[in-house]
Amino acid sequence: MALEVKFPRKSGKRGNQGLEKLRIYGGKPLVGRVKISGAKNAAVAILPAALLANDTCIIDNLPYIDDVTTLADILHELGAKVELDAKGRISINGSKMTEYRAHYDMVRRMRASYYLLGVLLAKFGKAEVSFPGGCAIGTRPIDQHIKGFEALGAKVELEHGVIKVSADRLIGNEIYLDVVSVGATINIMLAAVKAEGTTTIVNAAKEPHVVDTANFLNTMGASIKGAGTDTIRIKGVKELSGCSYTIIPDQIEAGTYMIAAAATGGDVTVVDVIPKHMEAVSAKLLEMGMEVIEGDDEIRVIGKQRPRKANIKTQPYPGFPTDLQQPMSVLLSIADGVSVITENVWEARYKHLDEVVRMGGNVKIEDRVAIIEGVERLSGAPVTATDLRAGAALIVAGLSAEGITEISNVDHIDRGYEDIERKLVDLGADIERIDENGKSRRLKLVTSRQRAAVGAGL
Ligand code: EPZ
Repeated sequence: MALEVKFPRKSGKRGNQGLEKLRIYGGKPLVGRVKISGAKNAAVAILPAALLANDTCIIDNLPYIDDVTTLADILHELGAKVELDAKGRISINGSKMTEYRAHYDMVRRMRASYYLLGVLLAKFGKAEVSFPGGCAIGTRPIDQHIKGFEALGAKVELEHGVIKVSADRLIGNEIYLDVVSVGATINIMLAAVKAEGTTTIVNAAKEPHVVDTANFLNTMGASIKGAGTDTIRIKGVKELSGCSYTIIPDQIEAGTYMIAAAATGGDVTVVDVIPKHMEAVSAKLLEMGMEVIEGDDEIRVIGKQRPRKANIKTQPYPGFPTDLQQPMSVLLSIADGVSVITENVWEARYKHLDEVVRMGGNVKIEDRVAIIEGVERLSGAPVTATDLRAGAALIVAGLSAEGITEISNVDHIDRGYEDIERKLVDLGADIERIDENGKSRRLKLVTSRQRAAVGAGL
């Protein structure tokens, strides 16, 4: 049955998750199969994009995570008809919407609300969205998004913390991105999809979620060619219609479980993935001595031995993804030898390593470079998640460590990982959630029948 919005958050009462903790009794190898959810970073672009249709869009394989429920709330507050069902399917109809302003109270809850700029500009010829600001991983400029809107003929102003974009007409143009930006690439596609003439984005981002958003827009009737290459051509169309669409699997969630398998000396198969999207991670794990077996839509990682050292340089896709640098740095902390990480995308994405040091890690950070001398084993400690992937990294650390790790600020993790405790418990982890009153919530292991159903992709 479909639920009208006011989505129940799976992970606890809204507003209290900041006080919740995850307690991990480490040292147990993860073993089994885990079904990967829909991609967060595709969902946060595709949901607002659905507002451009003149009818209902039904989107499947939605990850049930806080970023998605927050965004669904925002779309509802903007006047769209939004329904989410328990199977991870959402229907969105923005045809009756008139609101083009997204206030601070709405957008401060999630950074990716910058996609509302492109969408509302394309839909109404104007948009007013509070400036998203920086975050724990570094300053997050949107100059390339603005450059794109201006190239299409929009006027852009920043007033009292609000970005105001308006245009009488949007006219296609050639836009060269000075940096490869996922957000700018998608936002320009969204703004240009109904513009007059053709827009060309040069030096575009090639991430799977860029391609997925383009595919979704094309399913609605857009004419976008070249997504997945560094030149994207968007021929403006007059109207977009409702459609049904299935979101791709989450590359970063899959990578996190693959790394956790290696870090715990486990044997995990990530199910329902696109192995091509995982090539950078698979190659690194192989280099580190792990066994990686690719199937059509699954990858098995066997951590038979202590990982060998490796060097990582984060890059836009198809390079090694920055969003997996944090979990990977934990694996390198227990690898044999000295590894070097160069973080080329975000300037402050090493905060989790301070916590890893508290767990016995041996790390030196110089600007964007982290030098990690592997130790045999981390030891459990109370730690704090400073952002989403830092949280995922600390889970990997806690799973592999000896003793108990207690992770605070779990709300960061709930933003982006669906059912993380359930999935980990099913793989044999010993993990419990401690609520704000100190009460423990421990999930039971699923039956082998349920496990078989997951294996069958049900
Ligand atoms: C997306 O952020 C992801 N978020 C991030 O994932 C991810 O880390 C990032 O892409 C890189 O892959 C979503 O998709 C919602 P960018 P985005 O624009 O689009 C600079 C996670 O954990 N830049 O590709 O905001 C910027 O400073 C999150 O899931 C400009 O200089 O990232 C950065 O150095 C965290 N000007 C680089 O480009 C701009 O106008 C890449 O940023 C835009 C970006």
